[in-house]
Amino acid sequence: MAGKNIYIETYGCQMNVNDSEVILSILQDAGFQHTENIEDADVILANTCSIRDNAEQRIWGRVDQFKLQKRKRDNVVIGIVGCMAERLKDKLLKEVDLVAGPDSYRTLPQLLEAVTPDNPQINVLLSHEETYADINPVRLDKNGISAFISIMRGCNNVCSYCVVPYTRGAERSRDPHTIVREARNLYEKGYKEVTLLGQNVDSYLWKAPEGEEGNVTFPQLLEMVASISPEMRVRFSTSHPKDISDDVIYTMAKYENICKHIHLPVQSGSSIMLEKMRRKYNREWYLERVDKIRSVIPDCGITTDVIAGFCGETEQDHQDTLTLMEKVVFDSAFMFAYSERPGTLASKKYPDDIPYEEKTRRLNEIIALQGRMSLKSNEKEIGKRLKVLVEGPSKKNPEELCGRASSNKMCVFPSRGEKPGDYCEVEVVSVTSATLICRRID
Ligand code: 5AD
Ligand code: SF4
Repeated sequence: MAGKNIYIETYGCQMNVNDSEVILSILQDAGFQHTENIEDADVILANTCSIRDNAEQRIWGRVDQFKLQKRKRDNVVIGIVGCMAERLKDKLLKEVDLVAGPDSYRTLPQLLEAVTPDNPQINVLLSHEETYADINPVRLDKNGISAFISIMRGCNNVCSYCVVPYTRGAERSRDPHTIVREARNLYEKGYKEVTLLGQNVDSYLWKAPEGEEGNVTFPQLLEMVASISPEMRVRFSTSHPKDISDDVIYTMAKYENICKHIHLPVQSGSSIMLEKMRRKYNREWYLERVDKIRSVIPDCGITTDVIAGFCGETEQDHQDTLTLMEKVVFDSAFMFAYSERPGTLASKKYPDDIPYEEKTRRLNEIIALQGRMSLKSNEKEIGKRLKVLVEGPSKKNPEELCGRASSNKMCVFPSRGEKPGDYCEVEVVSVTSATLICRRID
């Protein structure tokens, strides 16, 4: 298979983006080449997501498109990798040539070697150890400024609605020295921002060999990465409200280059729903964590995820979500209608009993409220001075630049010919719900 062209599409979360980079690295080392053009591909891969039914439906649609490529050219191999491969295993193998789960990417070269039209290949074994620690991912980002680094894999929280523990297996943390090495390499290549990724970064824990000292916790890892250079920003995602510790918050406050943004998925504002979701915190706990963050880091950006219409959600529960959103005033939110996932605790225990129209109504109310809250949160920024990392020209006006403030808010401002990766000092003059419009003060 050496010399063949690999084309890969990525669906789902940032972690999947990083997994695609790991996959390409493994395959390039085995002699394959990356192509961005499906028409040139000898191997077509989709790195897939199972989080909601509509994510999977979209991918089934893509598989049909991939099959058209197979009709056009001989010997095209179609592979499904990632979460959907793990979840649907043999069902997918009836449709494609290759099925590989999130812990089996090292075996992709062998699997591809063995594939023939009559001999599809599958590896969906999950591992307790695999972290791809030694693999240097091929970077797929376009501007060479901002990269993702996976610091752990899998998840040990059994949130009752969530398929991830079944598709990505048990939680394991990656050797911190390999993380720091990867971040330092990126900095030396000119990168200015790394985002440390995990399903629940606050529970990151590297255990030193027995009898030795040297356990590393998440706040310690943050310090290690932040110390590489004050010029390199550090972000992280995702934080679990039950696990985010004061230590993490104080570490963020201590380093200017640790960005002041926390993605803290609340899922619901109702303690009854949170209990059924097995989130292991309640409304009061969540609000206390937000107060703590803001007391230590007053300008900290806080974003969230919300699920509308979980099993048995009453109008009161829904109102509790709305009032929590009004209280917190999130900067932005990802908002979803509950989608039952086969095999999860919720699918076994609770009927998916909120009708589609009602879920949609609640979701639309949540989305409309968040629009108002995003605007309100942005209005508070007017007059503030911010340090922005330039990403590139603004989409609307090429005379202007865009980039993110530490809080992760998107800023646009006049260009003086800066390049992606430069820092600019700006002052916010006006806002929309999505953008801060700024003037230069440097
Ligand atoms: N239905 C709807 N949304 C879900 N999420 C996770 N599982 C489901 C589901 N079954 C959302 C949660 C999570 C985000 C990544 O996706 O809000 O934080
Ligand atoms: Fe990422 Fe979850 Fe989708 Fe898997 S199911 S790709 S972990 S969002």
